[in-house]
Amino acid sequence: MRTFVLFCSVLTIINAEIIDLSSSDNVIWTFVSKNGSMKGPATVPGGVYSDLQKAGIIGDILNRDNDVLTRWVAFDTWTYTAKFQVSIDDLASRVVHLVFDGLDTTAFIVLNDHSPIGAVNNMFVKYVFDIKNKLKAGENVLNVTFLSPIMAAQIRSSRAFAAPACVPPGYNGECHVNQLRKMQASFAWDWGPAFPSVGIWKPVYIEKYDGAVIRWVTTHTKRVGVDWSLTVQAHIETSKKVTKIDGVLSIALQVEGKQMLKKWKQVNVETKADGTVVEEIELLISGNMIRLWWPNGYGEPTLYDLHVHYTTASKKEESRKDIKIGFRTVEIVESPASEKLGNTTAGKGLTFYFKVNGYPLFMKGSNWIPSNILPELGESDKATIDNLLTAAYDVNMAMLRVWGGGVYESDYFYEKCDQLGILIWQDFMFACSMYPVDPPFLNVVTQEIEQNVLRLQHHPSIAVWAGNNENEVALRGNWYGTSKDFKKYEAEYIKLYVDTIRPIVETLDPERRYLVSSPSNGIESEREGYIASNPYDPHYGDTHYYNYFADNWNMNTYPKTRFASEYGFQSLPSIRTLKTATSNPDDLKLNSKFSEHRQHSPNGYSYIENQLTGHMKLDVNDFKYFEKFVFYSQISQAMALKTETEVYRQGQADWYTMGALYWQLNDVWQAPSWSGIEYGGRWKMLHYFAKTFFAPVLVSPRQLVSDDIDVYLLNDRFVPIIDAVITVDIYNWTSLTPINTKQFPGDADALSAKLQDIDMNYWDYKKEQIFLKFSLDAPGVKSSPNNYVFPVPLKSIVGLIKPNITITVANIVMRRKEKLEYTVNIEVDTIVLFLWLETGIKGNFIDNAFIVTEPTITAKFVCSKYVAPRDLQSSIEIQYYVN
Ligand SMILES: *[C@@H]1O[C@H](CO)[C@@H](O)[C@H](O)[C@H]1NC(C)=O
Ligand SMILES: *[C@@H]1O[C@H](CO)[C@@H](O)[C@H](O)[C@H]1NC(C)=O
Ligand SMILES: *[C@@H]1O[C@H](CO)[C@@H](O)[C@H](O)[C@H]1NC(C)=O
Ligand SMILES: *[C@@H]1O[C@H](CO)[C@@H](O)[C@H](O)[C@H]1NC(C)=O
Ligand SMILES: *[C@@H]1O[C@H](CO)[C@@H](O)[C@H](O)[C@H]1NC(C)=O
Repeated sequence: MRTFVLFCSVLTIINAEIIDLSSSDNVIWTFVSKNGSMKGPATVPGGVYSDLQKAGIIGDILNRDNDVLTRWVAFDTWTYTAKFQVSIDDLASRVVHLVFDGLDTTAFIVLNDHSPIGAVNNMFVKYVFDIKNKLKAGENVLNVTFLSPIMAAQIRSSRAFAAPACVPPGYNGECHVNQLRKMQASFAWDWGPAFPSVGIWKPVYIEKYDGAVIRWVTTHTKRVGVDWSLTVQAHIETSKKVTKIDGVLSIALQVEGKQMLKKWKQVNVETKADGTVVEEIELLISGNMIRLWWPNGYGEPTLYDLHVHYTTASKKEESRKDIKIGFRTVEIVESPASEKLGNTTAGKGLTFYFKVNGYPLFMKGSNWIPSNILPELGESDKATIDNLLTAAYDVNMAMLRVWGGGVYESDYFYEKCDQLGILIWQDFMFACSMYPVDPPFLNVVTQEIEQNVLRLQHHPSIAVWAGNNENEVALRGNWYGTSKDFKKYEAEYIKLYVDTIRPIVETLDPERRYLVSSPSNGIESEREGYIASNPYDPHYGDTHYYNYFADNWNMNTYPKTRFASEYGFQSLPSIRTLKTATSNPDDLKLNSKFSEHRQHSPNGYSYIENQLTGHMKLDVNDFKYFEKFVFYSQISQAMALKTETEVYRQGQADWYTMGALYWQLNDVWQAPSWSGIEYGGRWKMLHYFAKTFFAPVLVSPRQLVSDDIDVYLLNDRFVPIIDAVITVDIYNWTSLTPINTKQFPGDADALSAKLQDIDMNYWDYKKEQIFLKFSLDAPGVKSSPNNYVFPVPLKSIVGLIKPNITITVANIVMRRKEKLEYTVNIEVDTIVLFLWLETGIKGNFIDNAFIVTEPTITAKFVCSKYVAPRDLQSSIEIQYYVN
């Protein structure tokens, strides 16, 4: 019973200790450039751009063209120096390790008297150095010297070139980023500037102990009939010099009814050569002790606390990890599509869908890019992560794809996704490039994959791993002029994603699917030797689709797919957001140098303009041309993505399309991009629209090439819709009173899309004088948004006139979860299209971009700080569309 006693005497046990080396009164960090001309106090964790801003040496990096003006920073060599005191006691431990959770990227580390500790070159890796004999009592000096990432990439490229050399010139970016294990977007992307960052971007600390510590915990949950088995693996680590560990590993899982399930085992084993040991404990959990974890929209994302302790026998020293886990199954089903769709064109090939807890669920969501262009801020700025993930949750998203050109996000990010029920499609950090495969490169990649899978594996939110972003299609499509060396690049591709990365993932995380690329044809790509003849085959896997030429508001534009993992269209951010990047009014013109500088997509503005003028009237001589262009670009983007997303949701009925993740959720600067949320957090019209086009229940009409209208009923619920009434109101653009109303019966199975048996003939009316409104009334369906068909382009409609709009803010202020909620009453005297509310007061409208067909509607505004209702009322500015 010795071990039991140990377990109960937890309070008397000392923890394996940590000496935090973050900036503080006790640890003074400074930074200096190579020749000493630039220096100042540093913040650690942090980075050089942040420090130079704080020191006043450079200004706001996102202002105007500061991305280019500050580029000298990335060519210099920067040394970070820490001075800190250590006591004799601190040195007494058997093991003394210096741990860097993240160094960005190529650096040398020196501790005291010029003794080198090591060289590092992967920002995605935790580095642990034995400093037992290098640390001294009294003052210690730690130097971390970062090489210019631009030069480091250049040097490696001269030995191990891999295409492409550089990003397109319009990005104002840098070359050979594929040579570095660094956030690939930090050398510029089509939606972002280059900030080739350096710095100690995650915590740094000294670990000291006599026994061992738990470095990682992986958890493996399996259904056993109605019950569950949980296998907890503790990845225990000690010094390479320690060959044996002796202690107790224990786990405690809190389940329903405040019950605690506990189990322990004696650990008395030899360590591997690297000083590590993996020990596991299995628990059997009766099904009635837990509730399942569900993605957003399908149920509650229930989490349970798991405590894992390792107690060293001799010294009663303890190391612990406290995590939250969930019980759910997730699989990707790739089975003959004919089983769902019969012996038809659609039934050729394989399905590709996520089955969660045994149910096929349509995945609605978006793509996540880093939350900040500076990785240290992406890591530490929790408020921004909260806001973005909550915004995704609020608009019915169930999945985000963490895209392969960014970073493996912070623990905090995945914890938040676990809590909100947002599933994560996790790319490994390889994007839009061929990659070198020289042995040193593969070695650091191996470390990176091992560590990140071990770190993230326990999160119930992670649904799938994918080897890279678009590298299969890039090689097949010769995006980077690789065709003459196809065989070489193909072999290297297989070496990296199939021979190196895959076995690591499948060993550490056998429950999750590893997709070699994203997009790909899934197992069909594998059958075809990993580079499929057509990776965009609509009969297999996932696809990315961008088309800036076809009419993006037309449902007949879009191709079939089993799963749309990227698609999108650009818009401009609001004037308010643009003004945070420039105070020069001359910049706010479409043809200004500023506008040109910020647009990285070649011909980007002309694509926006073409879509916009295809649908709306905009006079280039209008004195508010730029303001209207911005607003109309957001209408155009929102309508395009509404159209495309509904096509994919309708596609569940006849193609078994089972996912729609649009590009992209968020932004890193104030510039035209594909995002639905602007840098700074303002929602574009697209994000408001997402709430509607991702609604669990939606009537979704489709105007065919023949002008007939098909009507689908989309039902993402576990219960069928029966005895529904679908109401179609036909409006004259001149009036709030419908000129005709028809009702049709409707139904849909659970978790399905169904084409309704509705034969509508409305072309007795002149198409340019009318529009159609669809609404649903069904037993058990609490709410379902209205939907619309505008039969002709808006620029051709007749009868829509300038409305009179009265806005009043009610005096009663409601309190909801630390937020204040205001009711905004809106009165109109005619139809209003895309009524848009904006205010300079910090907060946000819960709904916006209204299509107003009733004389009065209400909107809600929420904020954290009290504002007098009449002040809010007078601050509200409105916009809408009228010819
Ligand atoms: C030091 O380096 C900076 C940046 O590389 C350079 O502009 C400056 O001229 C150098 N100063 C001296 C004294 O060499
Ligand atoms: C640490 O870096 C500083 C600044 O570059 C330098 O003056 C000092 O000599 C370095 N110390 C060691 C031990 O390398
Ligand atoms: C599927 O259809 C094709 C073409 O009509 C036919 O040749 C084939 O036998 C059918 N297969 C099955 C399994 O029905
Ligand atoms: C729409 O209203 C206008 C103005 O009242 C009228 O001239 C037109 O005929 C109406 N169109 C239809 C289709 O009802
Ligand atoms: C708006 O109000 C003005 C002035 O009262 C009126 O002339 C106009 O017809 C109104 N507009 C609409 C759409 O009713």
